[in-house]
Amino acid sequence: MKRKHQVTVVGGGVVGLAVAWRAQARGHEVTLVDPRPARGASWVAGGMLAPVTEAWPGEEEVLTLGEESLRRWPQFAEDLGGCGLSEKGTLVAALDSADLGVLDQLAAYLHSAGREAEKLTSRQLKRREPGLAGSLRGGLAVPGDLSVDNRALLDALRKPLDPIREEVVELGPETVRTTGRTLRGDLVVLAAGAWSARLHPALEHAVRPLKGEILRLRARRTTLGPPAHTVRAYAEGRPIYLVPRAGGELVLGATQYEAGFDEVVTARGVRELLEGAERVFPAIAEYELAETAAGLRAASVDNLPFIGRLPDGVFAATGHHRNGLLMAPITADAVLAALDGTPPPPGVAAADPARLREKESV
Ligand code: GLY
Repeated sequence: MKRKHQVTVVGGGVVGLAVAWRAQARGHEVTLVDPRPARGASWVAGGMLAPVTEAWPGEEEVLTLGEESLRRWPQFAEDLGGCGLSEKGTLVAALDSADLGVLDQLAAYLHSAGREAEKLTSRQLKRREPGLAGSLRGGLAVPGDLSVDNRALLDALRKPLDPIREEVVELGPETVRTTGRTLRGDLVVLAAGAWSARLHPALEHAVRPLKGEILRLRARRTTLGPPAHTVRAYAEGRPIYLVPRAGGELVLGATQYEAGFDEVVTARGVRELLEGAERVFPAIAEYELAETAAGLRAASVDNLPFIGRLPDGVFAATGHHRNGLLMAPITADAVLAALDGTPPPPGVAAADPARLREKESV
């Protein structure tokens, strides 16, 4: 039988919760610390599990890691009771000819990388999703990119856990000091998202907050229902997405700004999102605007997360950039592998924080 460990997880967003849940299920003794668990960027998120439509030339390791994690998602969601996992797939639409140029570039890259993405004319797009605007220039169908109800997921993940709701003051490889106590164990996992840089000097210049605003809207009795697929679009150079939820809700995201730790929803953010969305899916203009929210993605220097040991032995599980939900299952598996003393899952080696030291030494 494998040895059981005492694990302290710092951060109760989707990554920290997934790590804690999986480690606890494996029989490890887990303590989770977060003053506001299951909130932050994970609560705000659109819920896309989209390695292919998030892919970009030069970021092959992000794509590989995301796909490895996506493979784990159906079982992960099933173990948590489903969490609204949608396998309807994703459509990507272009508003004008410059946007179509961006889509063509993405399609060419995906084809060269052997990924599935079918080009669609404007008419084909509308046939698949009748509520889309007739004026769209064309699009792509990406059947493999999925979505999940992030809030149902967070609820399910935190159910078996009883977090300590205190601020972390200091941490080391075996000790976490909070505002109220000192916790000791065999492994400390740092999963504090955008705040990770403040908690560990090795991440000081490696992880930063990247603000994102989203809107939640609700179809009304008199309006067309939300699209069946996740719809992503380039609207005059601005990427947006519409992620349907059960019960007529639609998540519209997301802005992306370097704004430090600012979590205020701005009028400009709301305007940008609505303007773009209305031109892609006109019925949205009559939807109820149910919620506005902002969160801080944990951006990393190279858009790859940091999954692995920092120089002092703290295990980093942070810096997931736009892919926290997507990469939660593989990050949890990487922590389990470290606890078992086995090699990390495929794709994770590229996310080893050792790359920070390698960059420093060249
Ligand atoms: N994953 C989408 C976003 O970060 O907005």
